[in-house]
Amino acid sequence: MNSKSPIGVFDSGLGGISVLHTMHSLLPNENLIYLGDSKYNPYGTKTKEEITKRCVAICDELISHDVKAIVIACNTATSACVKLLREKYDVDIIGMEPALKVACDRGEHQRIAVWATQLTLSEKKFANLMNRFKDEHHIIKVPCPELVRMVEDNKLDDAYLVESCLKEYLAASDYKNLDSIVLGCTHFPFYTKYLEKLCPNVHIIEGSVGTTLHTKDLLEQKGLLNTSCEEGQITWMNTMDPKIELSKCLFKKLEVEL
Ligand code: SIN
Repeated sequence: MNSKSPIGVFDSGLGGISVLHTMHSLLPNENLIYLGDSKYNPYGTKTKEEITKRCVAICDELISHDVKAIVIACNTATSACVKLLREKYDVDIIGMEPALKVACDRGEHQRIAVWATQLTLSEKKFANLMNRFKDEHHIIKVPCPELVRMVEDNKLDDAYLVESCLKEYLAASDYKNLDSIVLGCTHFPFYTKYLEKLCPNVHIIEGSVGTTLHTKDLLEQKGLLNTSCEEGQITWMNTMDPKIELSKCLFKKLEVEL
């Protein structure tokens, strides 16, 4: 392994492409491998044991491609097994965390909705995060499984369907009284444009920049940051081959929208 080795990025399916996009924007020289586990999506309704088994299989595959670090671009997988993966593999394993601190740091007594999968919201990792902030801020948890499904099913351009679904989750979040929505699932940044239209006064916060900068720091510390002047390559992999074309389209969509 050396600085030109790729960074492995994986998700339960296509959501992690939002993280991949941020990584490619902020670390353009890095070679990246994206592995989507669409055959086993969604993770949010699976048990921790099932998710862990999938994550180990995926990390084994990424390691066989000589990756220098692995980014779990999936909040659910991070909640389920980041600790175990860190113990099992020698490379740095970087996880996702709902960017609740960023929302709380905006001021006193913030009113915040955290949108994520049921598993992310019910795991100990999130309970610990909540405990740090819940006395000072009003935080509500909103599980949003449909927002995962619509990305996987390529429904993002169906404005009527998407907006109807978002309006339900916004109502459940009491959005007229909110300061921020924290997107605690990597599938959700694909809805940013819609949310900016439906609730322009609410801050939409996601965590991919923090994850990318943390990855950069870890690589720098180990002398593994790619300092070449060439643009990095992205290698696309998926446990369901036909999803690779859709993956590339979603990546391009983010390039246009963000
Ligand atoms: C899911 O597969 O249910 C969503 C994964 C995530 O939290 O990003």
